[in-house]
Amino acid sequence: MDMTFHDRSMCGHMGASHVGRQVVLAGWVDALRDHGEVLFIHLRDQSGIVQVVFSPECTEKSVCEQAGQLRNEFCVRITGRVVDRTPGTENPHIVTGDVEVNASDLTILSQSETPPFTISEKSMLAGAPVRQDQAVAEDLRLQYRYLDLRRPSMQRQLFKRHAIIRAIRNFLDEQGFIEVETPMLTRSTPEGARDYIVPSRHHPRSFYALPQSPQLFKQLLMVGGVERYYQIVRCFRDEDLRPNRQPEFTQLDLEAAFIDEEFVYRVFEELVARMFAVGGIDLPRPFVRMTWTDAMNTAGSDRPDLRFGMTFVDATDIFTDTNYAIFRQIMERGGCIKGINVKGQSGNLSKNILQNEYAKEIVPGFGARGMTWMRVADAGLESNIVQFFSETEQKRILERFGAETGDVILMIADASWHLVCTALGQLRLHLARRLELIPEGVYKPLWITNFPLFEATDTGVTSSHHPFTMPDQTDFDPTDTDALLDLKSRAYDLVINGEETGGGSIRINDRRLQDKIFQALDLTEEDVAEKFGFFLQALEYGAPPHGGMALGLDRITAMILSAPSIREVIAFPKNRSAFCPLTQAPAPVSREQLAELELLDIKDDAPLPGAGRQKDPVASLSWVSRIGIEDAEREEIRTAVAQAKTLAERVNREASQNTGESAEPLFSVLPASNRFRPGTTARISELSENKRLLENAPAVKGGYFKVASVLGQ
Ligand code: AMO
Repeated sequence: MDMTFHDRSMCGHMGASHVGRQVVLAGWVDALRDHGEVLFIHLRDQSGIVQVVFSPECTEKSVCEQAGQLRNEFCVRITGRVVDRTPGTENPHIVTGDVEVNASDLTILSQSETPPFTISEKSMLAGAPVRQDQAVAEDLRLQYRYLDLRRPSMQRQLFKRHAIIRAIRNFLDEQGFIEVETPMLTRSTPEGARDYIVPSRHHPRSFYALPQSPQLFKQLLMVGGVERYYQIVRCFRDEDLRPNRQPEFTQLDLEAAFIDEEFVYRVFEELVARMFAVGGIDLPRPFVRMTWTDAMNTAGSDRPDLRFGMTFVDATDIFTDTNYAIFRQIMERGGCIKGINVKGQSGNLSKNILQNEYAKEIVPGFGARGMTWMRVADAGLESNIVQFFSETEQKRILERFGAETGDVILMIADASWHLVCTALGQLRLHLARRLELIPEGVYKPLWITNFPLFEATDTGVTSSHHPFTMPDQTDFDPTDTDALLDLKSRAYDLVINGEETGGGSIRINDRRLQDKIFQALDLTEEDVAEKFGFFLQALEYGAPPHGGMALGLDRITAMILSAPSIREVIAFPKNRSAFCPLTQAPAPVSREQLAELELLDIKDDAPLPGAGRQKDPVASLSWVSRIGIEDAEREEIRTAVAQAKTLAERVNREASQNTGESAEPLFSVLPASNRFRPGTTARISELSENKRLLENAPAVKGGYFKVASVLGQ
């Protein structure tokens, strides 16, 4: 049989112009429909799907018989003639739905086991398209990622990602940037996370670090005279798990010499606009710019979502002489009062919701001590505390908030400006989601500028970005913590729809200034020399002024493609627990491997690293259930687990005594009941109704969060 594929046509291209032609197709059986004499299959390849017909009229008997063996996901090669479908049997849900291929020959190239989940996304009949991915547990999809990737929607994501990367390369090439690779086995580059470290056999007990970003190397390239660099580069960060984070992720990293902020804004606005254009999205330009202070003051976040209103209103001055005791005390402590007007929503925010849900539960969860609420009625303000406000105060509130009947005014007061802003910021987001005020398909890019250079820590200060960021002024005293906290940086973040999609800065190119920053960070000279000596030395050899930025490529791609998570736009991502269900990485290594790296004395009986966690039932429980356990709770949970284990053992013993043989482990010994952490009460989340609560769960079964079984093992 002729096994060459050079005359192969693509399934998705079949159409009117092919009618009457003989074609060779190859791909996978997407779906089958057996009508006795006649067998229909949907054949899928990278380009799409076409219907193939095996019927006694056009297919030899032996080929029809062979077709009877076909099952979903068999890999096949088919020869046949393209014909128009009989009128009325067209399938509008596939691009090729006006035609079909009458098969004359079939080769089964490779058989397939029954896949663990349905791969087909297209209905065979002219019905609604099938979408399976939401129903399949994500870990199962990741375990069989090679099957998951066959799904047309996943293929589309990968093609689009490729197109976005091609748009980046084309544009940066036009602008004279060159792509340069930097090392993966290197020293630590600080970006605020922990390093993944790699032991070295040639240098026992010494470790490489995988780069958290190419920051130091790209700056060294500037010193090296490579004036316009970029790289599409993998970065590695061992940080706390979040839905939009991956332990390894891809950045578009860029740096240029002899430039300022305006250059970066110009390049990235055009670049990001071209990336979004791949997804058919026209970004509004120029991008809005906002200082960090304004962002905090108006939205309570360094990544404000501008798609909806509820901009903060400062009401501090209204209450300078107030009789309302809570506000008065806060004013006496130099505090501030800010609020939002939730326009026209009093119908959806009852007194009960405002008082019992928001004031008592939700807002305290954001760190504020409470929340003042007022509903605007025809007769004026309605609230549990409105009687404490004077006529003038009430009038000024209405004016200041532009309040009209049907509005709801919410205020948070505290001695700490930062706390008022962040709590109100979280409240603003919570309400926008609950009241569905966030429009779909709208994109609001925003530059955040003038960040504080440092953030306070218990012992001093730490860099808000990284220590190589240029301050807005250079004549500061590195020992004066208050003055340091007032410094602003020449850093910028690109925020789109409330998500941080990129960040960068103009860098320090002066060795003495860099030393001063390290001094401010309280790093000793030895520390600095040990960690960054090679880099500081480079700054002594005519380092040019330079700056740059990095975009989170996975995040932006997910946003452009409206993917529900960044894992959907990465071919082989880790799951939410930073684990790869496909390769089962990370995995233990043998004692021999550790011994070879001189990380373990093979003769010694020392346990392998990580063995401790398996021995500690509480740590193990916390890990398998994916619920963090605080130190204070550890003892109580240890006792409960020990009791449960004793009980399980007793039940098992008694059961085996009765039957004389070891009984099957029981599924549930006691009637199941909910246990809550002390001080908390149960509340049915509004997200449970539409299953959004479980949206990011790594594995779901029957509407429940699925965890590994622990007891009885
Ligand atoms: P930064 O740390 O802000 O900057 O990173 C740049 C962008 O990378 C994305 N990102 C991530 N995406 C997925 N998973 C993660 N764990 C993750 N961490 C970060 C974010 C972020 O905005 N060297 C500097 C850039 C510079 O100064 O030029 C840096 O790495 O979208």
